Amino acid sequence: FHVKLLAGRQVLITAGPTFEPIDPVRGITNLSSGKMGYAIARAAREAGAEVTLVSGPTALATPYGVHRINVQTAQQMHDVVMSHASGQDVFVAVAAVADWRVANASAQKIKKNADGGVPQLAFEQNPDILAAVAAMPGRPYCVGFAAESEELLRHGEEKRRKKGIPLLVGNIGHQTFGRDENELVLFDDAGHAQLPRADKQVLARQLVAEIARRI
Ligand code: C5P
Repeated sequence: FHVKLLAGRQVLITAGPTFEPIDPVRGITNLSSGKMGYAIARAAREAGAEVTLVSGPTALATPYGVHRINVQTAQQMHDVVMSHASGQDVFVAVAAVADWRVANASAQKIKKNADGGVPQLAFEQNPDILAAVAAMPGRPYCVGFAAESEELLRHGEEKRRKKGIPLLVGNIGHQTFGRDENELVLFDDAGHAQLPRADKQVLARQLVAEIARRI
């Protein structure tokens, strides 16, 4: 990447899953390795941007030169993102955020019941981080991701409109989790365009170039 397409730009990225505790040793989470988000963070930094990566639990190394902030829950990810969002040029929401958290999480490990009784979990909704950033006055250029298992072309454009964002990136198929390769469709005002199957780092560079020419 020899052309610094994002020189002097500030880019905020969420990546990985969130983890919502049930008790101190248990929780619920989403399937996400973080690879796509980390690849975008690396590509944005290579393109000259100052990159802040807000990451749920992953097994990945921090890309060179990227400022990484670790979080566990969706609420924590929301709070960190909102405290860093103003002044950003671009926000890319790649994280697989848990839609719900456990409302009655236990401070102590829940004991197994001898009579076979099971704990009853109650859920409450987590904040939509992308929607919160997209609603900010003077918001950054917002990019969302969608992992739809069917009818991506219709659902992708629907989601872009519903979220009120200029660019939505669809993962084609749902076999991408943890893999090194992916295939993307970009939805914007002009329609949709495909980025054919390639290594996630190659796709991340292409996506960064697409973002750079839109801002
Ligand atoms: O509506 P859906 O969850 O499919 O939208 C996915 C997009 O919204 C992704 O970009 C994801 O990072 C973002 N999102 C978010 N906060 C949530 C749920 C999703 O930022 N609570």
